[in-house]
Formats: sequence, C-alpha cells, structure tokens
Amino acid sequence: MNAIRDPALGHLAWPAAGGSRVPFGVFTDPAVYELEQQRLFRGESWSFVALEAEIPNSGDYKTTFVGDSPVVISRAEDGSLHAYVNRCAHRGAAICRELRGNVQNHLCVYHQWAYDLKGNLIGVPFRRGLNGQGGMPADFDMKQHGLQKLRVQALAGLVFATFSESVEPLEDYLGPMPRQAIERIMSRPIKVLGDQRQFVAGNWKLYAENTRDPYHASLLHLFHCTFGLYRSSQKGVSVMDAKHRHSMLTAMRGTDDGKLEDYQDTRTYNADFVLSDPSLLAGRQEFDDGVTLVILAVFPNLVVQQISNTLAVRQIIPRGVDKFELVWTQFGYADDDADMDLIRNKQGNLIGPAGLVSMEDGEAVEIVHRSIIRDQDKSSYIAMGGEQAKDAQHLVTEGSIIGFWEYYREIMGWAA
Ligand code: FES
Ligand SMILES: [Fe+2]
Repeated sequence: MNAIRDPALGHLAWPAAGGSRVPFGVFTDPAVYELEQQRLFRGESWSFVALEAEIPNSGDYKTTFVGDSPVVISRAEDGSLHAYVNRCAHRGAAICRELRGNVQNHLCVYHQWAYDLKGNLIGVPFRRGLNGQGGMPADFDMKQHGLQKLRVQALAGLVFATFSESVEPLEDYLGPMPRQAIERIMSRPIKVLGDQRQFVAGNWKLYAENTRDPYHASLLHLFHCTFGLYRSSQKGVSVMDAKHRHSMLTAMRGTDDGKLEDYQDTRTYNADFVLSDPSLLAGRQEFDDGVTLVILAVFPNLVVQQISNTLAVRQIIPRGVDKFELVWTQFGYADDDADMDLIRNKQGNLIGPAGLVSMEDGEAVEIVHRSIIRDQDKSSYIAMGGEQAKDAQHLVTEGSIIGFWEYYREIMGWAA
C-alpha cells in the first residue's frame, strides 16, 4: 500500500497500483465525502454553476450549488456576474427560494434583511429600534454583514464559481483542450431550451467515472449501438488535459461500416430493431470536423455534450455520500430556425432521466452503489486499454478514468 499523507484518510488505504484500483470505501465513506466538500468542491477547483444565457439581464438570478453548498448566481446592474452563498447573514435562512427569477434586490423572508445584487447588505428592519426600544448595537456595520461571496468567472458563456482565493484563473484551470472543446460548441450565441433533473441513488464519482468511460457506451446503451450514434468501432478519441482531471470523448457516426460483426454477440446490437418514427434521429451535420458525439468532462462537476444535434451541459450536484442530482440544461443556438428547434427537441428525447440512452447511466450507477456497501477495502479493477492514465486514439479504453482517480487521489491527500 502507498503511504497516506492525511490522517483523516488513514483508515482507508489505496492500493499501490494507483488509479486503476479504487477502494470501494471512496464511494461510501461519509468521512471521504466530508473531506471532498472541503478539499475538492471548496478547494482548488472551479465548479460550473450556470450558462450566461440563463441570467442575461440585470437582476436575473439562479440558485444552484457548489458541491453541496447552496449558492446564488446573479447579474448586477452593470452586467457583472456575482456568486454568493444562499444563506442570510442574520440567522441563516435561504435568501432566494426560487430556481430562477429577476429582482431589484434580495429580501430574506424571515426578518427582511435586504441585499443588493452583488450580495451587500443594504437594509435591516428596525435597525435603530422602535420608539426608542430595541435596535441593533451602536457599532453594527452593514458592510461587515454581507452574503458570503465566491469568485466567479465566465468563459464562452459558461459560468464557474469557486470558494478558493488561490485557484488559478479559469482559463488556466481548464487548459487548452477543454477550452477548445467548449469554444467549438459555444461558437455563437445560444438559447436555453429547458432543464431535466435526475436524482440518482449513488455516489457522484460513479457518474464522474461514467462520463469518462467510452467502454460502456456501446455495451450498456442499446439505443446508441443499434442506431449507430456511438459504437466503440467508430473513429474517436479519449483524451485528457495535462493534469488528467478533465477528459473528452469524441466519436464520428458512420465511420464503422462493415465492422458491426464485432457487436453480433452483444446484447445491445440487434439488426432487427427499427424506429417506427425515423424522424427521431433526423438531423443536420452542424460541425465541419465530422465529430457527431462529444462528451467533455470538466473536473469536478460539469459535462458538456454534443450528441448529434443535442447540445447540453450536465451539472453534477452531490447530495450526500449516496445521492446526487444531475441537472441537464439543453440548449440550441439563438439563430436556429423553427425546424432546428424541432430537431433539437426531438433528439432531446435521447437524454435525461426519461430518455432512450442516459437513464441507463443512472441505473448503472445505482447497481454499482448498492453492491459496494461492504468490503470497503476491496477495489474496482480498471484496465481496459492498459493500467495507465493515457490518451487513446480509439474508444476501447478506460485511460481517462484512471487519470481522474490519480488526480483525485492527489488533491484528496492520499499517496503522493
Ligand atoms: S434570517 Fe434572514 S433576516 Fe433573519
Ligand atoms: Fe453512458
């Protein structure tokens, strides 16, 4: 076993093989979950919190989470973006109770303390008392009692926030590969089509693995494979950033003709299946590079996707050690015509909790989580394509999952 730097993790040893062996306790141990909130979600990372298109106007706000901390993302009168903890500085009530809205200032419902759009305290009822009675102490200074602020930064229309004062600027945190992948999809103004929300009874990192896993994508997902949206025999890549914390899978539909015999024995390929409504998959080639599927996983909580003409961001929100929420926000381009709106909305049926593909990922997470609640020191075995974190110019690999775990181990304080 490797040396463990942190006594808080000392009860759970990580096998010496590193990122290719993950002890099950990492998914189920409440102490690990607590440490993640501190070191990872409130540590040296940027969490995705919104699309700029969700809050375009002055006074627009959105409530969401960084890790499991509730936050508000707000646009101020001068157009600037702000993020603060959704917790009144008085006695802790949530100051915003709607998912989205537009306000001139935020008023806490409990005792009506008021905050401006940047999170500064601007009003306290009965501050000077009533009829000479009560009132706040003479030295009460409103400047000292604003909302707890986070750093916030946007890139290509995606908004990120962090509790850290020291994490590198967002562009550097993302690095060239994720930046280019984001800029490719966010190449022109977007419009939000809607959200889907999914609660999954499993640890959030099982989903982080899933989105870095090209191996399962044609085996678990019958629809993907049968209708050719994704097969491991297609041209595609699995690549990471320099620190291996972010990863991208791509695939090119229609590049595996003649190789389907590889799938003849699998459950998920059945040549007899046909769509009764083929318009479900009718679409347009949107990108000159021929890439028809992109799953970009940005550490720790974001997935940016292009599956045919569906464009979406998925936000992973941990809700305790054995539960997470997945928020899918689907979007199109502001200049899409009516036909394109229809195409995107129809293809949108592929994804989300009631979709034809992605509900299977939620189920896969749950059947793992239910089976690993004991034998916490036993581990998974991740070796398809080799036991190292390495990029691949093909899709028969688990290299990016190993990369995720090696980075995770390092920031959590397991072995150096
Ligand atoms: S808790 Fe918000 S005003 Fe009292
Ligand atoms: Fe999947």
